[in-house]
Amino acid sequence: MARFAERPGRSCPRHYRYSPEVFARAPDLKAESLYVVGGLYGNPHALEALLSRSSEENATLVFNGDFNWFNVDAGGFSAMNEKVLKHLALRGNVETEIAGEDSGAGCGCGYPEWVGDAEVECSNEILRRLRETACGFPLLRARLGALPMHLVAEVGGTRIGIVHGDAESLSGWQFSQEFLRDPPARLLRLLDSAAVDVFASSHTCLPVMQAFETGRARVLLANNGAAGMPNFAGEKFGLVTRIATCPSPDALYGDRIGAAWVEAVPLRYDHYAWVEHFDRAWPAGSPASLSYRNRIVCGPAYRLRQAARSSARLPGTEGRGQDLSEAA
Ligand SMILES: [Fe+2]
Repeated sequence: MARFAERPGRSCPRHYRYSPEVFARAPDLKAESLYVVGGLYGNPHALEALLSRSSEENATLVFNGDFNWFNVDAGGFSAMNEKVLKHLALRGNVETEIAGEDSGAGCGCGYPEWVGDAEVECSNEILRRLRETACGFPLLRARLGALPMHLVAEVGGTRIGIVHGDAESLSGWQFSQEFLRDPPARLLRLLDSAAVDVFASSHTCLPVMQAFETGRARVLLANNGAAGMPNFAGEKFGLVTRIATCPSPDALYGDRIGAAWVEAVPLRYDHYAWVEHFDRAWPAGSPASLSYRNRIVCGPAYRLRQAARSSARLPGTEGRGQDLSEAA
């Protein structure tokens, strides 16, 4: 039997990896207002809400991977990618795996041990079906495969490393809320060696915002969870990370690094239309229905106060040091 880290869905292929030192470079983009959008997961209603919201403030968009997932119908696949690829984008493990042939990596998620085998197998099956659809669009597959794994942005002089997974891997879990509960000293050294003030990530499905003093600087990790699915119990909206030189009126929580406000903002899409759309593509008993329908309808067992950690503040509490464990 294959070792845990070599099994499909558990493995982290060598070509997913990079050095944290790659972020020590001139910025690839500069913006006054930047939305980092991870985990759209093929939700066209979330994309519509995002384009409407971001156009109101003329914001720059970066899709940091996994904008494909549930969109296994040919029309949905084509429309999602044509629209997203008009903007800056990174490839997540989903885009990387559907752009390539089956290498044995399964979904490429690199799932850690706290994710059960049944969920991993559902993800591998979803990826297989999505790759079948993608094979009908060779030009889109080539464009997805050519996307970068990371970008460096600058907002108000603050440097931001944009990744799908973490500072070392496209599918890394070191920026997950689970890992950050008890981060090892090695993480500080990693953040110290990457010459950025903020990392904006996604991939791990649940949001978290947490700051670290590395010795070099105060570095903020902002993981948006999912743009295309609910992130909190009982809620019906996705989340994106907004980084801008002025605060957003509807941020759920955030922090300030230099002149940049880094905030989790809600993406309020047409929930009922999305559930109906999802059910048509993935009926009861299908792998996506088994793994994701409950979350899409009811949200995960996770609360806002678990995502907004240490320095992250709720709006209106700047400088008061509010303990977020008392909030939300
Ligand atoms: Fe991912």
